[in-house]
Amino acid sequence: MASSSFIRKMFETGNALKAEHGAGNVFDFSLGNPSAPPPKAFEETLRRLAAEDYPGKYKYMPNAGYPDVREALASWITGEYGVDFPAGRVLMTCGAGGALNAALKTILNPGDRVMVSAPLFMEYRFYAQNHGGDLTVVDSLEGFEFDFGAIEKGITRDTAVFLVNSPNNPSGKVYSMASLERLADILDRKSREFGRRIYLLSDEPYRRIVYDGIKVPSVFQAYPHSLIATSFSKELSIPGERIGWLAVHPQAEDAQALFDGAVLCNRILGYVNAPGLMQKAVASVLDEQVDMTEYQRNRDILCRGLKEIGYDFHAPEGTFYLFPKAPGGDDLKIVDALLQHRVLVVPGRGFGSPGFFRIAFCVDTDTVSRSLSYFKAAFDEVTAS
Ligand SMILES: Cc1ncc(COP(=O)(O)O)c(C=O)c1O
Repeated sequence: MASSSFIRKMFETGNALKAEHGAGNVFDFSLGNPSAPPPKAFEETLRRLAAEDYPGKYKYMPNAGYPDVREALASWITGEYGVDFPAGRVLMTCGAGGALNAALKTILNPGDRVMVSAPLFMEYRFYAQNHGGDLTVVDSLEGFEFDFGAIEKGITRDTAVFLVNSPNNPSGKVYSMASLERLADILDRKSREFGRRIYLLSDEPYRRIVYDGIKVPSVFQAYPHSLIATSFSKELSIPGERIGWLAVHPQAEDAQALFDGAVLCNRILGYVNAPGLMQKAVASVLDEQVDMTEYQRNRDILCRGLKEIGYDFHAPEGTFYLFPKAPGGDDLKIVDALLQHRVLVVPGRGFGSPGFFRIAFCVDTDTVSRSLSYFKAAFDEVTAS
């Protein structure tokens, strides 16, 4: 509990501030709760399914999920990731979190390491520790690029998994195909050196939350020994519904055992299977996604405004997060200065990157526009001191 306290502290502080000043006077950029409404087609599908009487409705199904749902998803994955993907390699899960836990429980032996490049989604350490492993965090270079030298040096015979998150929470970075291929080359070389296969686990719930027409490269094309963990939480704005999937590359070493293990782990972790009605619903709307207009507008207003003030950052290529450098270098100081103006953000040290802070701009545009003068006031205060 102590090590997950940054977001919790912001959450509690935010609630107290809202009670005191009214919600409209608090600029809460602390949580990654999607603000775009789900696509209309999703809600229409839910209504249709609720009225329909299909076989097995509300019952347990095979732990991997409904066969027709997995068929539909496998054909979508084939198109999206550019590999011939069979239904027998995709497991329906309780969100990306459920997929990551099923994958890590399957792969990790006690004492194994999961390597990840900072900054990172803070739940990863807990997920690795859930299954007897732990994280090895490697710093990134300017622009959040992988530090390939440090990655190569940091891999040991205990490294079982490299976990990549693109688009990245909190930096908004999308790793290029060239970067993924260079990473794959290192993983392959190190796997041979240590005589054990290092898997690439790709966490990509923001895959379609991208800007300026960018397309996230396919890890399946970069490295055959890869797994994809993802969800519909952000792309359809339904994080409360806990629906996602885990896909094992059909050419991965021990692909059958990996997949069978993940199905068993999905069951014995207590998930049993992913929510049935949601499986059917998402399978009908695989090509749908949330309207990006507001996220794009918020990102553009924030980028323009913060740049004018003097903040130093890389414009996010995806997600709804911006991860600027803390002016003056101290993330706690800028977070505190912003808090004095009722602006809530999260210090970068919570993401393994002290010296930065995260702004979650999945809020209404008015909140973004009205917050800029406070971002300026806080900037002036910390740089003057
Ligand atoms: C990088 C990342 N991975 C995984 C998750 C978990 O997502 P889900 O709701 O699909 O479990 C989140 C949620 O915010 C996230 O930001």
